[in-house]
Amino acid sequence: MLLSVRDVTLRFGGIVALDGVSFDVSRGVVSGLIGPNGAGKTTVFNVITRLYAPDAGEVELDGKSLLRTPAHGIVRRGIARTFQNINLFRSMSVLENVLVGGHSLGRSAGEREALEALDVVGLAPLAGKPAAALPYGTQKRVEIARALMAQPTLLLLDEPAGGLNHEEVEALGDFILRLRDERALTILLVEHHMSLVMRVSDHVNVLSFGRKIASGPPAQVQADPAVIEAYLGVQE
Ligand SMILES: Nc1ncnc2c1ncn2[C@@H]1O[C@H](COP(=O)(O)OP(=O)(O)O)[C@@H](O)[C@H]1O
Ligand SMILES: [Mg+2]
Repeated sequence: MLLSVRDVTLRFGGIVALDGVSFDVSRGVVSGLIGPNGAGKTTVFNVITRLYAPDAGEVELDGKSLLRTPAHGIVRRGIARTFQNINLFRSMSVLENVLVGGHSLGRSAGEREALEALDVVGLAPLAGKPAAALPYGTQKRVEIARALMAQPTLLLLDEPAGGLNHEEVEALGDFILRLRDERALTILLVEHHMSLVMRVSDHVNVLSFGRKIASGPPAQVQADPAVIEAYLGVQE
């Protein structure tokens, strides 16, 4: 098991954002994490990356606790993430934005590596373009390229399909599978785009109001009455 989340509870004042959440992610898989808005998905990422400390529970990577690793040490443990909201330097070029991903590791990643990362997401030809000039969906791919500069073993993607058109979602699905198959990456994917989640995930966990309500292969989870009810009960 690469990642193990055990009985994690996290409260914000009176809100129980995570209520005894447990799930495992095996090495080399795409693991979907879905649930209605406010279910606690981003909070799970924030716990794994040590932005938030849980009130109870344990998170292990490779059998060793993550909770003793400070947020700035997370990259060195092999974890990289993208954010739900775009977080690029608008005045910098695409290539410069990706290079920043290497710098934040305190290692001097070269341009060749950055171009390679851009190539993975299909953006090498746009390396010199200002990031701000790119369509939203393309900027999200730049963020993924930047995360790859950390050379992660575990990549956390928070709603990477948000704002993407149909073709872009298809391309995103293709390169998520390529990352898994060619780079042996393990990917934890938070996503609302159901057909994408169902297409690329090997396994899916479902959160609702901070609790895990289902876990299993995509087709099984999709047909689960508790999951259907959780989604029908809210207006997205
Ligand atoms: N920093 C915070 N302070 C207070 N409440 C928060 C904070 N972060 C998240 N929450 C609350 O925790 C719950 C889960 O949020 P979140 O993890 O962002 O949900 P999701 O990503 O599934 O939409 C929500 O009720 C949200 O309002
Ligand atoms: Mg979220």
